[in-house]
Amino acid sequence: MQPIPSRSAALFLLLCCHVTSALSQKSDSALAVVENTEGEVEVMDEGDEGGDFEVVQPTEEWQTLKPGQAVPAGSHVRLNLQTGQREVRLGEEQLKYLDQEHRETEETSISPEELKRVMKKIKEDMKPESAEHQDSVASRFRPMEELKREMAELDLLVQTDDQIMRRLLERFNSSSSTTEQRLSILLELEYLVHQVDNAQTLCSMGGLQLVVETLNSSDFRLQESSAFVLGSAVSSNPEVQAKAMEGGALQTLLTMLATDQPLWVKKKVLFAVASLLRNFPFAQRHFLSRGGLQVLSELFRGDRGGVLRTRIVTMLYDMISEKELISQAGLDPGLHASHQELLRQYSLVSLREGLLEEGWCSLIPELLDSTEHDFREKALRAMLALAPVCVDQYRSHRSLKASLLRLREQYQDMIQSQMILGEENEYFEEMMDLINALHVLLR
Ligand SMILES: *[C@@H]1O[C@H](CO)[C@@H](O)[C@H](O)[C@H]1NC(C)=O
Ligand SMILES: *[C@@H]1O[C@H](CO)[C@@H](O)[C@H](O)[C@H]1NC(C)=O
Repeated sequence: MQPIPSRSAALFLLLCCHVTSALSQKSDSALAVVENTEGEVEVMDEGDEGGDFEVVQPTEEWQTLKPGQAVPAGSHVRLNLQTGQREVRLGEEQLKYLDQEHRETEETSISPEELKRVMKKIKEDMKPESAEHQDSVASRFRPMEELKREMAELDLLVQTDDQIMRRLLERFNSSSSTTEQRLSILLELEYLVHQVDNAQTLCSMGGLQLVVETLNSSDFRLQESSAFVLGSAVSSNPEVQAKAMEGGALQTLLTMLATDQPLWVKKKVLFAVASLLRNFPFAQRHFLSRGGLQVLSELFRGDRGGVLRTRIVTMLYDMISEKELISQAGLDPGLHASHQELLRQYSLVSLREGLLEEGWCSLIPELLDSTEHDFREKALRAMLALAPVCVDQYRSHRSLKASLLRLREQYQDMIQSQMILGEENEYFEEMMDLINALHVLLR
């Protein structure tokens, strides 16, 4: 994210637009600023090129600029946030001092409502002209284009993420928005909620609930995008995870996984489920009690292409090792009370038992048949993690031993040929270690 300056810093920028060239203002069109080579003021704008303009002579006092008026180069032009008018006075050089205090009190006295009104006015001022006109103007009035751009940037700076999100949510919630617009809003939200604060603000604005409700949309694309936003919002964000659970997100996501949906939707839904469960034993417990493991096993069996299989196994492996890590740390006697509570919560998550019941001891080995090293690695790691409950099933598995032997041979060959080539083979060595460890267990 780009850093956002404090409001007063942004206001300062906005207030003090010191123009080095001449400037004029027209009430309903963009600024037109031109200085000819002789340094004389010359103002041009659409439909009235080179026409007569009144040149205002600035004094020490601020004067309001009227439409069509121009000012000499070096003048200090500002936007009066109280009135929305542009004002001019002598530039700093001429004044020889900077009225800092005066300006500061002015800044702090501006209410958000006034600011919003002024911002809107600037926005309207900057509505793009017709393309044809822009072409001709842009090539001849560079200073005007630059000033416009600067102003637009200032406007952007004043918009905080909160303001942007509120605006996005209003538009998203508006009945006049099209599906295309909603989709692009969801993408923007997805970008914003990677920041922990933003995701929490989304909740407090009621946006998370909107996103969760959108999961139920009849449009697959909206389903996919809202699952994407949800998954990103809850990632590493306990507060938002809790809010999502409250809002019924888990049940809706599981229903989506269990019903007929395109693969690309399920991919994002799976991402959202995994993010929702990560480091959150409360959600994991509900996932188990609502038949989450059964839903996943059906998904696994139906996923012949293997796109979802690895993701599912990775997610299960992460859950197993997460619980493992907490339990191991739990043996430390000097443990903090909050950790004891965490330990207690994880003890309520009967993950291994559930996996055993839903047939995962024989499902995960299927992933070994994949041609992808990465998929196999995930399978091997998950199998090792599940060994305490699955070892009997591994031993009686009809093809597991043969699969392991085949893989061992293959990786041995690869390690050897890489050694001949003098290449790195650490990864394959690691695979060998996993295979051997599993092989030992099967004896
Ligand atoms: C969305 O619109 C509904 C009905 O107009 C309103 O009740 C709800 O508060 C709005 N939600 C948000 C987050 O703006
Ligand atoms: C989605 O629809 C289902 C079935 O109609 C409903 O039970 C569930 O509460 C809905 N979820 C949300 C978040 O609106």
